[in-house]
Amino acid sequence: MKVGWSGSTVEARELGSGPAVVLLHGYPLDGAMWSGVARLLSESFRVIKPDLPGRGDTPAPAAPGIEGYADFVEAILAELPSGAGLAGFSMGGYVALAVAKRRPPNLAALALVDTKAAADTDAGRRGRDESIAVAREKGVEAIADAMLPKLLSAAALANRDTVERVRRIMLRQPKDTIAADLAAMRDRPDSTSFLSEIRMPARVIVGAEDAIAPPEEGRAMADAIAGADCIVIPGAGHLAPVERPRAVATSLQEFFARTLSAGGAAGPA
Ligand code: MLT
Repeated sequence: MKVGWSGSTVEARELGSGPAVVLLHGYPLDGAMWSGVARLLSESFRVIKPDLPGRGDTPAPAAPGIEGYADFVEAILAELPSGAGLAGFSMGGYVALAVAKRRPPNLAALALVDTKAAADTDAGRRGRDESIAVAREKGVEAIADAMLPKLLSAAALANRDTVERVRRIMLRQPKDTIAADLAAMRDRPDSTSFLSEIRMPARVIVGAEDAIAPPEEGRAMADAIAGADCIVIPGAGHLAPVERPRAVATSLQEFFARTLSAGGAAGPA
């Protein structure tokens, strides 16, 4: 689909037909991390998996930070019919929460995948600054080397195809975008108190071995959102959508089939 963004027209990759579901990728990745899940979901939905600003063909946001990324997602939602679903993975989940806070009229259901509502701790913020320095001084390869063991479970790390695929996605991200993502995550607000204000159907999905956004955190998020549930994906690390695409797609399929319908569904946030 075409999206007006930053004075130009951007192509956001889409596949399938039916109620629209937008999938937001994490750091330091792009929309391709969703490929396996998107293929499966597209049997029932119109799936849009954009590259967030600063990568692919999407120009960087005028306003830096998670809010700048949320501006882009809002521009996508504005092009979609009512009753759209949004699923955000990790950093994409931070963006999805920022979008949900704006209460876009056609957003009808929210999936939070391997993500957190809490802001960074002081130590976490210092770690972001260190990673920004690594990106600038040593380049994207050093970031990819540091991220792989955090993103993948031990089993996935032993799978050469998976490792190569994730590495390939990371290595094509511009250095400035990596730095912008890190600053955006460092500066994001705490959204914990917002969870109880969410008035749309919501589901939390988390890899059982996620070391970045652990299952306890996912369960606590689901407990704080009225009516939400938490699905734990066995045998998956942080990058559950890449490691266990079928399990994640099944969980999203079941959730969005229940909460979205063609041409409009549940009311706004
Ligand atoms: C991500 O997977 O998007 C990031 O690792 C999340 C984070 O570092 O907070």
